[in-house]
Amino acid sequence: MHVIERKVQTLLQAMTLAEKIGQMTQLNAEVGVADSAIKQRVRDGMLGSVLNLVDGPRATELQRIALHESRLGIPLLIGRDVIHGFQTVMPIPLGQAATWNADLVRAGARCAAEEAAQCGVNWTFAPMIDIARDPRWGRIAESLGEDPVLASVLGAAMVAGFQGDDPAVPGSIAACAKHFVGYGEAESGRDYATTNVPENELRNVHLQPFHAAVQAGVLSLMTSFSDIDGVPATANRKLLDDILRKEWGFDGLVVSDWDSIRQLAVHGLTDGDRGSAFEAATAGVDMEMQGDAYFNHLHALVEDGVVAESVIDRAAGNILRVKMRLGLFERAADTLPKSSASVSQHALDVARQSALQSLVLLKNDNGCLPLSAESLTSLAVIGPLADDAYEQLGTWIFDGDPARSMTPLAAMQALVGDAVAIHACRGLRDTRSGDQSGFEAALETASICDATVLFLGEESILSGEAHSRADITLPGAQADLIHRLQALGKPLVVVILAGRPLALSNIVDDVDGLLYAWHPGSMGGPAIADVLFGVESPSGKLPVSFPRVLGQVPIYYNHKHGGKPPTPETWVHMDDFPARAPQTSLGMTAFHMDVHYTPLFPFGHGLSYAKFVYSDLQIEPNAPTMDDAISISVSLQNNGEVTADEVAQLYVRDLVGNVTRPVRELKTWQRMQLEPGESRRVHFKLSIDDLSFCGRELRRIVEPGEFHVWVGGSSTASLHGEFRLREAPTEKT
Ligand code: GLC
Repeated sequence: MHVIERKVQTLLQAMTLAEKIGQMTQLNAEVGVADSAIKQRVRDGMLGSVLNLVDGPRATELQRIALHESRLGIPLLIGRDVIHGFQTVMPIPLGQAATWNADLVRAGARCAAEEAAQCGVNWTFAPMIDIARDPRWGRIAESLGEDPVLASVLGAAMVAGFQGDDPAVPGSIAACAKHFVGYGEAESGRDYATTNVPENELRNVHLQPFHAAVQAGVLSLMTSFSDIDGVPATANRKLLDDILRKEWGFDGLVVSDWDSIRQLAVHGLTDGDRGSAFEAATAGVDMEMQGDAYFNHLHALVEDGVVAESVIDRAAGNILRVKMRLGLFERAADTLPKSSASVSQHALDVARQSALQSLVLLKNDNGCLPLSAESLTSLAVIGPLADDAYEQLGTWIFDGDPARSMTPLAAMQALVGDAVAIHACRGLRDTRSGDQSGFEAALETASICDATVLFLGEESILSGEAHSRADITLPGAQADLIHRLQALGKPLVVVILAGRPLALSNIVDDVDGLLYAWHPGSMGGPAIADVLFGVESPSGKLPVSFPRVLGQVPIYYNHKHGGKPPTPETWVHMDDFPARAPQTSLGMTAFHMDVHYTPLFPFGHGLSYAKFVYSDLQIEPNAPTMDDAISISVSLQNNGEVTADEVAQLYVRDLVGNVTRPVRELKTWQRMQLEPGESRRVHFKLSIDDLSFCGRELRRIVEPGEFHVWVGGSSTASLHGEFRLREAPTEKT
């Protein structure tokens, strides 16, 4: 038996039932919470973990008590939401997903782990890898977008960054894949709302990133608050035991979400804490976050013979295993946590690179971008988000340090302030304000300048947990400000900082350039300035579809084909209906009469200052058998005049399946840099397993048949090829 397993079993045998249940509880220990009560619980061996303790001396004291004053000296897990940075802040995860750069995402997570570990944190509640297709949902900001493959690869990269090659080395912290599972399907995008996800969809979409995280060695998972097909995740034995433990072989720990065990009674699944403790413990939740249902009821449930002690042993054993894999028994004593992490130039450099590659250029009419410091004499920089060191950090930045931020205004002044007269003006008090009294000053400023850059969007509080919106247009009077500035007839570039895709149909025609910056983190300023002035080319690609209007939601690229799909030929806007059009004369297909059936900006979209051309798609073999790997290659040329990165994306469609299959599915991609004029042959490999899916029998299968392939710079790529997968190798001639 592995050394750690032996230690786990030995320790379990030495523990009382009360001490094992103590390990299964976690309490909030933020400043102001009853310190003495928590210290006593630790001293009595009745607490396995705390969260929100980032005060170095307090963390040191609590670990000291755990190690030296409790009977068995079991160290504490100290958890914190280190979601996209600690004090140095990376772009929000949705922005990091726009980089399509796993190495960079991993580096960002590593920086976050190393800063958090300095303050005593040894467990983060990240990555959040819920598949998110609904921009009304505030938590789309902390997701990695709508695609299961992109979320799988980048989520696994975050796990690798947080946990390092060895979770036991200083600077590594335990990761926590959350929220298991299907949370992003919350009805109407309202957080915590009901989800109903058929098992086939769960397996083909929502479970994929979690399986990838488990395969990447994630040490913990967190259950979702949500009700899934009538059984809340926190009591869902099929998910937590059948799939997670039995099918996937996960042997880390499962933690509830905040008080989600007691909420089982609120859901109406149980009639109180005793029933909730029973349901969660027997389903497979090892640790209760910030609640005492376990502490108050599990002992009696075991004494009464309702819960077997083996259930407690399994849960406590999973917790001890994670603590041992983290090396806590060895290193908890020697780390002297601080109250603030030292500023690291490396972390700032990673934050800047991540922000740069997260920026998505959505529109660039008449080549209005990049701006030229040589030809511009003056520039108006307007808007409430041009110079706000805090708001650019985004949601879930409990420990983010705005003092480390550089804002877009400051960065532009530093970059071109000697050559270009920059005139700044807020125009609006904040993004929600309807007060237009600042417009005159803004218009006056713009009228005396050669061009205007307008920084709009959402403050960080307008996305994140419990911050869903039913209207996803620009809040307040921002659209009015755009219209007024556009009427001046001067070049107008809008930079949007937001935690979600916004519905931009009402402004997109009024702007010459449109750059999406998400919430870009500490170094968003220099990244945006470098792109605006052409020091760097934008290279971000959308990890989520942008609807034209909310009424299209949910709208995502990897949708099913349907039996009567809309086509360019059949769609006609209702304003163009002929008078008394006969009932069946307008194309009986799946569309809205008042909005085109495509998104405003599709998944994978992002413009560049270069001009990338794809050609000559080759597939080898073009009639593969189940034993073959499939090689796909294209030629990619930079026909532009600047060096730039491109994300070449490969999509596949399985034409016929024993369940209906999406019209396109991202399978892999490559990010690469090409010089002006450079041409390169880009090679991709597809394994037969890449073509597998969960069929009607709820097992992963691969079926022979026709497959279509596209390669390009977005999910609407047109360069196309086909192959036919054969059942078995025919006699080789
Ligand atoms: C919150 C979130 C979860 C977070 C936890 C601790 O309610 O749902 O993502 O990690 O509580 O803050």
